[in-house]
Amino acid sequence: TWTMAGFRDMEIERIRKQVGDGRVICGLSGGVDSSVAAKLIHDAIGDQLICIFVDPGILRAGEADEVVKTFRGRFNIRLVHRDASDLFLTALEGVTDPEIKRKTIGRLFVEVFEEEAAKLGGAQFLAQGTLYPDVIESVSFTGGPSVTIKSHHNVGGLPERMNMKLVEPLRELFKDEVRALGRELGIPESIVGRHPFPGPGLAIRIPGRIDREKLDLLRKVDAIYLEEIRNAGLYDAIWQAFAVLLPVRTVGVMGDGRTYDQACALRAVTSTDGMTAEVYPFDFAFLNRVASRIVNEVRGINRVTYDITSKPPGTIEWE
Ligand code: XMP
Repeated sequence: TWTMAGFRDMEIERIRKQVGDGRVICGLSGGVDSSVAAKLIHDAIGDQLICIFVDPGILRAGEADEVVKTFRGRFNIRLVHRDASDLFLTALEGVTDPEIKRKTIGRLFVEVFEEEAAKLGGAQFLAQGTLYPDVIESVSFTGGPSVTIKSHHNVGGLPERMNMKLVEPLRELFKDEVRALGRELGIPESIVGRHPFPGPGLAIRIPGRIDREKLDLLRKVDAIYLEEIRNAGLYDAIWQAFAVLLPVRTVGVMGDGRTYDQACALRAVTSTDGMTAEVYPFDFAFLNRVASRIVNEVRGINRVTYDITSKPPGTIEWE
């Protein structure tokens, strides 16, 4: 009979055979897929694996720390942690167009990754957390829709350019199976059960120009929202939940004074694959509690809205 433990053991053997005494590098993002791929490969070949974690400065509060603590600290995996926030934020200065944001971020990820890989002296193998649906989707792309709604960046073309062979131990699995495998490998629930997070990160949750100040503001709002979702036991019932910082200032009243501060939107959806999505029907008391915490605890925000648009016609992210 098929078990996850059996699959793990089989994959470990397969990785050892494929890699021999070669070196593998793996881009770690903090997401489920790359985390599970990295841990599995490390269980197979130990220090022959080196992970590269590029911090683009557009992650959620605490996420970069958690990646480093978990993979280097707890799992003892060789990990290059490159803080590239200056580079990313400088390149994004003044950029307002969503597609240019995405392309800029995608290009920089590849450039920084290549740079760090070169510093290590290269490798024969590149690990990727490609899943079965990714395999299918890239095949169907040829006959797919001709209109690009959003250009998702990935490291396509990288292995050929860098002359590396791919190690893709998850390519037969669906997302829920990857999560089960991650649990089998002892990866903490906070990573294995994590909602999807887009490569362009918080940059596409701040419509218009982004800067450090706005990012910090959004991180505070987002952290309160997610904390309340977790405390209410709702995290696992939701596909994705996040806050958006709106480029709008509105008038409010606080104590005896007038405020003129920014507005934010909260979003939460259910979905099975991200292609369509329904708004999560929070009860009103919950939304009320979150809104009052945000306006009371985050200086600079005086208005909170809840996005009730499904997909289609909306998309999940705002940009
Ligand atoms: P949309 O906004 O298109 O999002 O409804 C569908 C799913 O894809 C994620 N998303 C991205 N993921 N790079 C990614 O890795 C991207 O550029 C990107 N854009 C959207 C989004 O978070 C949702 O899960």
